[in-house]
Amino acid sequence: MKILGLSFSPRTQGNTEILLDEALSGARQEGAETELYSIAGKDIKPCDGCWGCRKAGECHIKDDMQELYTKMLEADGIIYGTPVYFYNMTGQGKTVIDRTIALGQPGRNLANKVGGVIAVAGSFGLVDAVKDLYFYMITRRMLPASFIAAYAGGKGDVKNLEKCMKATRELGQEMAQIAAKKFEYPAGGTHIAYGTHTR
Ligand SMILES: Cc1cc2nc3c(=O)[nH]c(=O)nc-3n(C[C@H](O)[C@H](O)[C@H](O)COP(=O)(O)O)c2cc1C
Repeated sequence: MKILGLSFSPRTQGNTEILLDEALSGARQEGAETELYSIAGKDIKPCDGCWGCRKAGECHIKDDMQELYTKMLEADGIIYGTPVYFYNMTGQGKTVIDRTIALGQPGRNLANKVGGVIAVAGSFGLVDAVKDLYFYMITRRMLPASFIAAYAGGKGDVKNLEKCMKATRELGQEMAQIAAKKFEYPAGGTHIAYGTHTR
């Protein structure tokens, strides 16, 4: 079983990475293989809205997102970790999320993977980042686990939040425990009504 920690922070070894590391150590305690992937320094371009992935089955933009697609597809669980930038996830994070529109093909999608969320803010604005990532996971038919919402501004400050570190380790354990249960959505449609105009 594999759990991927995905950091949306451009600041390496900052609070998001520290918490992801802690969660992944919890997952390892439950026997999971783990990997931390950071978007820092990566070349991940925005989705250009071409919808070519619908026909081709994959995204035509050949950048670092291609290796991340593989890692996401191979994982049984993904922990999305983001700092809060202006009251939501980072722009880099949203870019990754948008590019996963290409993971919507039969046999090449995120369905039934366990999803967890870690969001870190300096002082204000955690809720939107957390809820937007949950809404995203539901539309991808992922299986939501818990979340961690932490206030820590300076690089590494989160290490001082003892309860938060403990809860984060437990999130990692929970991710692995849920993944081991191998829950699956019923096969078939997405059950998502995009609006009352859809037929
Ligand atoms: C461009 C930018 C925007 C930010 N916006 C917010 C914000 O809206 N609310 C907040 O509480 N903190 C904000 N912060 C602070 C970060 O969320 C905080 O420092 C966090 O710990 C960074 O996580 P990291 O160490 O993983 O990069 C912002 C930081 C930057 C660089």
